[in-house]
Amino acid sequence: MCGIVGYIGFRPAAPVLFEGLKQLEYRGYDSYGIATHSNEIFIHKKKGKVSEFSPDETTLPGTCGIGHTRWATHGIPSDLNAHPHTDCNEQIAVVHNGIIENYAHLKRELRAKGHTFRSETDTEVIPHLLEDLNEGDLLKAIQKMVNYLEGSYAVLAISNDCNRLIAVKNRSPLVLGIGDGEFFAASDITPLLEYTNRVLYLEDGDIAEISVDGYEIYQGSTQVSRRVHEIQWAPETVQKGGFPHFMLKEIYEQPEVINRAIHSLTPDSIPRFLYDAKSMTVVACGSSYHAGLIFRYLAESACGIPVRVEFGSEFKYNSVPLTDVIIGISQSGETADTLSAIHKGNCSNVQTVAITNVLNSSITRYADNTILMQAGPEISVAATKSFTAQLGVLLQMISLLSGQVSDEFLSHAGVSIDKVFLLNLDDAVSLCAKAEHIFFVGRGPFYPVMMEGALKMKEISYIHAESYAAGEIKHGPFSLLSPETPVIATCLPGPAYAVMLGNLKEMKARGTPIIAIGSEEDTELSELADVLIPLEEKHIFLEIVAVTVILQLLAYHTAALLGREIDKPRNLAKSVTVE
Ligand code: F6R
Repeated sequence: MCGIVGYIGFRPAAPVLFEGLKQLEYRGYDSYGIATHSNEIFIHKKKGKVSEFSPDETTLPGTCGIGHTRWATHGIPSDLNAHPHTDCNEQIAVVHNGIIENYAHLKRELRAKGHTFRSETDTEVIPHLLEDLNEGDLLKAIQKMVNYLEGSYAVLAISNDCNRLIAVKNRSPLVLGIGDGEFFAASDITPLLEYTNRVLYLEDGDIAEISVDGYEIYQGSTQVSRRVHEIQWAPETVQKGGFPHFMLKEIYEQPEVINRAIHSLTPDSIPRFLYDAKSMTVVACGSSYHAGLIFRYLAESACGIPVRVEFGSEFKYNSVPLTDVIIGISQSGETADTLSAIHKGNCSNVQTVAITNVLNSSITRYADNTILMQAGPEISVAATKSFTAQLGVLLQMISLLSGQVSDEFLSHAGVSIDKVFLLNLDDAVSLCAKAEHIFFVGRGPFYPVMMEGALKMKEISYIHAESYAAGEIKHGPFSLLSPETPVIATCLPGPAYAVMLGNLKEMKARGTPIIAIGSEEDTELSELADVLIPLEEKHIFLEIVAVTVILQLLAYHTAALLGREIDKPRNLAKSVTVE
């Protein structure tokens, strides 16, 4: 939920750290800080966004250092709570992503021993504990310290008395970048791409000692080796490339992304046990959960097997009958709730599959099988191309499992998104931007598509948006309808068309403005709707993908018109690594 970065090499560390933190800002952006080492430790930290730092903040000396961008969990966003944190004598500096669950107990014990705490964070116990255990060798102190810590942590530490960087990982991601005469550590690979494509993923329990001469990795005090991977992502993929926001850039990448995702799943690559499954459970959160719901509607009808879809956060704590297969969907592969749901499946000997965007993320280690959706790095906090890539994988999975592979879908998914880019959404956007509340309604698989549309709208425009299965809205929410509450509806030709049209008429009779996504030739709908967004597709999968992108653009342009901070909406972080 925070981003950490470390550097040791020949370059001035501070600019490398600041640039790295900017790449990680999607993980948290309420405060930031860096510490560098040059005979002594130098620290700069403050409340606010690292992307707004001024260049003179980068002048800390030294070619070794650590940095942090924060999403507050323990203690408000403030200069004092910002990382790095230090021991009493400022000899050791530490940055941390994760949660130290037994911090209150450790803090009491350390206070009793005379340690003085300056922040409200759980993290600050780490440098004080290290101070307590340090006998002149930071590595040995960390090897002892891990026996005291409970919880999740990716920690980077430096100390006054040596030019080394120590990295330690447990249940929070940490990757090392291997350059020529320089080394990097970070929460994900994005800050490293500019310098190297050789990376190494630390495992839980790993402690890495890194100097300019190389690195050594330990489990406890035993040295271990880890494989070095060559990464294919180009550095440009983490830049805006002329777009005003990453979100818009990522929306426009979707024609290519969906084609890649669809073709990532072939009859040979799909896990065999999926063919034999008589029942499935999907576990996921947020947008990924919506992708799971769309999968349920379509898989149940095409494959004839029951599919349950559960929030990761609910699955672990409820005793539910287990199915043959659990599919965990997670863009980041680090969402704690989804990981714990997969873990529960593992404990019950159920076959598990992860659908994720991040190679070697935690979910890939928890699950028996992994399907990579290959969307490329997604920087904007709001999921767009990763959601579409999930759809690509899941819809293709349905095609393969049901034996009804559609050439139309395979060859036209990207084209159907390109056509959406030609639509004029101005009238719909200006209706939305004036509203305080918006309803998103649909039927069948379009209901979860509308749920995703409502999530996008509220997340980035801060307009209250709610989604309903269209038939449900008359069972209570009707009392909220008024000329000030637009309804956005999908009303495409299909089995539910007539009832959907009836529902819209009932809403219109309450004076509600209607933005309808439907066929251009549908004169009845076009007379009823205040705004008709035309859509002609020949396959339901293509309709689902196209409506998804229409709703993403509607949310984006509404938020832009309202001057919102689109890529980093308030209070959010992209990777939610706490339960
Ligand atoms: C919404 C959004 C979130 C994520 C959710 C799960 O735009 O991005 O709702 O979908 O936090 O994240 P992953 O897919 O990384 O597990």
